[in-house]
Amino acid sequence: MDDKKDLNEKRLRKEIFSKIKEFHSLKFADKRFIPGKSKVHYGGRVFDDKEMNAMADSLLDFWLTLGRYGDEFESKLARFLNVKHVLLANSGSSANLLAVSALCSRSFSRHLNPRDEVITPAVTFPTTLNPILQNNLIPVLVDVEVDTCNMDLSAAKKAITRKTKAIFVPHTLGNPNDMDEIMALSEKHGLFVIEDCCDALGSRYGIKQAGAFGHMSTFSFYPAHHITMGEGGAVATDDDELAKITSSLRSWGRACYCKWDEKNPNGTCNSRFKFKLDGQPWDHRYLYTNIGYNMKPLDLQAAMGLAQLEKLPGFIKKRKENFARLFEALSAYDNHLVLPRALDRSDVSWFAFPMSVREDAPFSRQELLEWLNGRMIETRMIFAGNIAKQPAYKDANIRISGNLGNSDTVARNSFFIGVYPGIDGLQLDWVIDSFREFMANTAKKSSR
Ligand SMILES: Cc1ncc(COP(=O)(O)O)c(C=O)c1O
Repeated sequence: MDDKKDLNEKRLRKEIFSKIKEFHSLKFADKRFIPGKSKVHYGGRVFDDKEMNAMADSLLDFWLTLGRYGDEFESKLARFLNVKHVLLANSGSSANLLAVSALCSRSFSRHLNPRDEVITPAVTFPTTLNPILQNNLIPVLVDVEVDTCNMDLSAAKKAITRKTKAIFVPHTLGNPNDMDEIMALSEKHGLFVIEDCCDALGSRYGIKQAGAFGHMSTFSFYPAHHITMGEGGAVATDDDELAKITSSLRSWGRACYCKWDEKNPNGTCNSRFKFKLDGQPWDHRYLYTNIGYNMKPLDLQAAMGLAQLEKLPGFIKKRKENFARLFEALSAYDNHLVLPRALDRSDVSWFAFPMSVREDAPFSRQELLEWLNGRMIETRMIFAGNIAKQPAYKDANIRISGNLGNSDTVARNSFFIGVYPGIDGLQLDWVIDSFREFMANTAKKSSR
């Protein structure tokens, strides 16, 4: 009887999957790109029936919370990054908060203390900075380089004091920082390093993946990112203790580490009811050793992520190709534009194509952005610009180290356009033509 039920279930799943495939090709059939009418997005989801079917498969399980897909995603991403532990979260922002909170947890043997300082660049994403403040640490903002958009390491070195306990370093738009230098600073001064790889999945520095250097690293799976789960994120670490604390923080702060499919009624620890609280017998499932959150995604999200992870090598290749084509074409205008620079040891899985209008260019960033916008080419600022200038941080307890002149320049002159795999050759032609026309028009105007 059970065998028959099993067979029927398999047959029905197959039928559903084939209907979804049919539905996908009907609803999401290739849309024609019409220059000037269709948008050239800066990023977006690239998917086919595989993601929809993976989600349907998970939906039919109706397990809902992290389960078999979550497990598989975590172990496959860990293998890709070559790190020991990956823990899924419900966003990159949550991953950042989990990572900083893990370092601050009283249950961590080398935990940070309130008012310890964390060095981080001034050009950043808000939820890279926020976890530092939310954990009562002091962010120390340092300047960036205009061409890499990354932290200026000479400024970071000058910012180190005896209060410095960590560096939180985003690989801006996928461009890896000099991880040799950062890890050398970490060793020399005993600093923890968190890499924010939310924009850098698949970027390499030397022979290692971005995210495999620091004590912890974080990833985002928001639709504009290298792979998506709709909303989603992950924390990666080689450190068993930090992984255990992160897992606890992700699940309300509880001590219990039972797997979702644990069969033993006495738990993985086999002594679930033998714990004590206030001298009384206590169920380990309800013992809390961290001040936690609930930051778990659904298994449906992990299912989508897993289908995306299979496609990651192809996505990275396309991002690199799109970047290379834009770089070659826009090099003609490097008298007016500061083009992005990657370090010699980097192999970048670009999130986007950043550039900065030179101070002496015969046009402003605003004029260029309006021109591109008129041609339906999406642009974005480099996140929060110089974040110290954002209203949210007016009264925040932040230390600024040195001069943030380059951060102001990035805020004033920089922006990015897309290279994501949804951008094809026709769209790139349109982008390149649009730059060509803009530059020709400004040349004409300035020769009048
Ligand atoms: C560098 C960086 N860190 C963190 C985040 C936050 O990720 P999420 O949107 O998944 O919360 C982003 C989002 O784009 C980001 O670019």
